Amino acid sequence: MTTKSKVLQLLEQNRDTFISGEALAGALSISRSGVWKVIRDLKKEGYQITAVTNRGYRLEGGSDRLSVEGMAPFLPDTVDPASIHIHQILDSTNNEAKRLAVSGGADHTVIFAEEQTGGRGRLGRSFFSPKGSGIYMSLLLRPTLSADFAVRLTTAACVAVCRAIESVTGKACRIKWVNDIYLEGRKVCGILTEAVSNFETGAIESVVVGIGVNFKAVPDDFPAEIRDKAGAIFQDDTGGITRNQLAAAMLGELASLTAMARTGEFLPDYKARSIVLGRTVTVVSAKGERSAFVEDIDQSGGLVVRWDDGSTGVISTGEVSIRGLFDKE
Ligand code: BTN
Repeated sequence: MTTKSKVLQLLEQNRDTFISGEALAGALSISRSGVWKVIRDLKKEGYQITAVTNRGYRLEGGSDRLSVEGMAPFLPDTVDPASIHIHQILDSTNNEAKRLAVSGGADHTVIFAEEQTGGRGRLGRSFFSPKGSGIYMSLLLRPTLSADFAVRLTTAACVAVCRAIESVTGKACRIKWVNDIYLEGRKVCGILTEAVSNFETGAIESVVVGIGVNFKAVPDDFPAEIRDKAGAIFQDDTGGITRNQLAAAMLGELASLTAMARTGEFLPDYKARSIVLGRTVTVVSAKGERSAFVEDIDQSGGLVVRWDDGSTGVISTGEVSIRGLFDKE
């Protein structure tokens, strides 16, 4: 662990409280001027640290930069801090995870970025990923699961993220098929799962689960084209909850993702949170739009529907829209 990392860890452990330069210097066996230099570097990186003569240094409660040190106090034992990689800026955390997959990255490696310049969503859309206000992360998995179970990873991840948001904020999350998480009628999280296959054999070698959470934003922060649908977990006051805290809770829930997908234990929870189950939806596909009643969600997360002509079917890809969703949810 570097000296900077040790200082940051101590500041994070004592967030909102002063620690004297002497105490920091003693704990790290460095000089007080050495401590001062590290604090200067951390401030340059954007950490909000207050220095007061005779009192020492205090990491402000509102300082919210993603760091392993900031997540550490909230990480369960099931998550190895060494598996977490944090970048200031990336094209897309999914791209980075895929690059790692090709170069032999380990199972359960996690990539975070403070900002994405080319954040990607489902169906070829972009994902708005401004600096510092979201949690943009990708989990690299090398699952020993059949293709059927691999499909369930993404649905299971959706439930894992709902559970994490609820445990940290107390806010109840709902799911719009397939993987959009809604709070108070607005989409606060999207998930894009991609497979990395072996070019020669065509076999799926790894899966990248990319998760984008809008943590703190007001409607005007979003681009006009998504402003009526997009929302964030918090608009202004987070009540002292940091992105690190939520990110750590997400990692905790996602640690058992492969087992969740294998056992299917998440399915009742997924159904209970579903916005579309038991409702008439419009199914949007390349062939056009068609009305259907959603009767069930099957073991792979597919929608079991009754079409308006009375026939039944299962939808596994694409998108549905719901009239009146924003009035009702
Ligand atoms: C969607 O809503 O259509 C899915 C959005 C997925 C966004 C996340 S942000 C982290 C990861 N990196 C990306 O480029 N996309 C996913």
